[in-house]
Amino acid sequence: MIGLIFGPPGSGKGTQAAHVESVFKLSHLSTGDILRAEVARGSEIGKEAERIMRAGDLVPDDLIIRIVQGILRDPNVSSDVLLDGFPRTLEQARALDEMLAKEGHKVDFVIAFVVPEDLLIERLLHRAEVEGRADDTREAITERMHEYRKLTAAVLDHYRNAGVRVIEIDGVGKVEDVFERIRIALDQAK
Ligand code: AP5
Ligand code: MG
Repeated sequence: MIGLIFGPPGSGKGTQAAHVESVFKLSHLSTGDILRAEVARGSEIGKEAERIMRAGDLVPDDLIIRIVQGILRDPNVSSDVLLDGFPRTLEQARALDEMLAKEGHKVDFVIAFVVPEDLLIERLLHRAEVEGRADDTREAITERMHEYRKLTAAVLDHYRNAGVRVIEIDGVGKVEDVFERIRIALDQAK
């Protein structure tokens, strides 16, 4: 089972993925978390990604595709996966579809959050105060929103056109209420 958790910056992908992971037994794989871990360890990948992430831009497709390919090929990684933050461009989506097709798999569903932009910005600026994530500055947030609209939003239509079930979830409200909407939708989809 391969699911995507999809939405603009601050829409709750990471927060909700943690719940989906434990209730639906899917391993949560966040490319943002993987890249932040590489930055923290000062690896070659981290050095390449740090400045790009801090500015709110997307890292190159080939870099992120190689990382995801390595993980999905790893026999120790469960084949039931919830991808968070990937694919983020049409090129990444096509690469993922190809990787999965080689194993006879495909994307089974997409959970797509709908949250108004002013609330997204409010959440991210709040997190800046409590956690200080390097890309939660006003400038980087503006750029992340811009990249989402310019390159990432099209990924949803790619999967809609491919006949994949796209589950739109209202991401406004308490964390547990949003999760309840996801739970009901995924239970119905079984
Ligand atoms: P990534 O880490 O994926 O960041 P993002 O998409 O900008 O999204 P966030 O992680 O900020 O938000 P989220 O939707 O996960 O929401 P969260 O649950 O955290 O990517 C970071 C960067 O890495 C990219 O800009 C790019 O440079 C690079 N990158 C990653 N993947 C890439 C790829 N595939 N290709 C190229 N580059 C890539 O919630 C946000 C905040 O809101 C939290 O504080 C949370 O506590 C709070 N919150 C959540 N839900 C609620 C709620 N219901 N009510 C109130 N507060 C809430
Ligand atoms: Mg996240």
